[in-house]
Amino acid sequence: MDITNAEITNVFNFATTQAKAIVDLAYIHIGICLLFLVTVVGLTAYAVLKFRHREGDPEPEQHEGNLKLEIIWTVIPTLIFAYLGVLTGLVMYQVNPPVRSRQPDLIVTGHQFWWEYKYPKTGLVTANEFFIPVNADLLFEIRGADVIHSFWVPCFGQKMDGIPGHPNKLFLKPIKKGIFLGQCAEYCGDQHGLMRIIANVVEPKDFEKWQQSQLKVPAAPNDEAAKHGQELFMSRTCVQCHAIAGTAATARVAPDLTHLADRKSIGAGVIANNLENLSQWIKDPQKFKPGCYMPKMMLTEREAHDIAYYLENLK
Ligand code: CUA
Repeated sequence: MDITNAEITNVFNFATTQAKAIVDLAYIHIGICLLFLVTVVGLTAYAVLKFRHREGDPEPEQHEGNLKLEIIWTVIPTLIFAYLGVLTGLVMYQVNPPVRSRQPDLIVTGHQFWWEYKYPKTGLVTANEFFIPVNADLLFEIRGADVIHSFWVPCFGQKMDGIPGHPNKLFLKPIKKGIFLGQCAEYCGDQHGLMRIIANVVEPKDFEKWQQSQLKVPAAPNDEAAKHGQELFMSRTCVQCHAIAGTAATARVAPDLTHLADRKSIGAGVIANNLENLSQWIKDPQKFKPGCYMPKMMLTEREAHDIAYYLENLK
């Protein structure tokens, strides 16, 4: 799959204002902790070297307590940690402000083992890969359909759990364009490791273009193989789980396949999306993603090819 130009996945490589706030805070914490480390290790090393026992030394002077010192080493750390505590509280508030009655811009639902993305303002539904406009103040709602999942794109900042029956909110304002990769971050079953996230941050006008193209109802197939593929899709079990706009397929159990052809990967990041791979996937998804809920369909090579051909030609 073509994610070679994706951004490096690293929590310090921030791509949202929220992630930047967290990274800035982390640098302050790391800086102060380093200062402590250097001071404590330095003073200890100095004392060990300077005051070590030498042949013929008398018994050292005996002290019992030092009120001045004790006050200093209690007050200074208290002030430093109070400062860090207040800063942390401010960043937490900045990253998770009150939601009030604001409606989400994107609803993310974790399923075993894929992601559903719904844009409630337009009704657009897609899977595993999504687009958002750069510099937009976005509110995500994170849900879980079956068990607890966790939505995590490291460059975007914090993780957010998708808990069944308890939607969580996540504010994100992307400040950098590009492809950002993520992954489910809460163990959710066999294929937890293959719940990849591909996030595309693009110019607002490109986002609009993408959204309009995704909302388009694809034309009916017009060549033999694609027609045959559609027939198979509607008569075999495919139709019981998947949806394709403009057809009788409306189930929401598995990914919406209306514009599958536009996605980079199959099976939430398992293999690159092309006709050959999709045919093989349809024939035996368990070979690629053992434990996923798409069964082996007992299709012939030709049937699997025609279904894949139909799906790859939905425009
Ligand atoms: Cu979904 Cu781990």
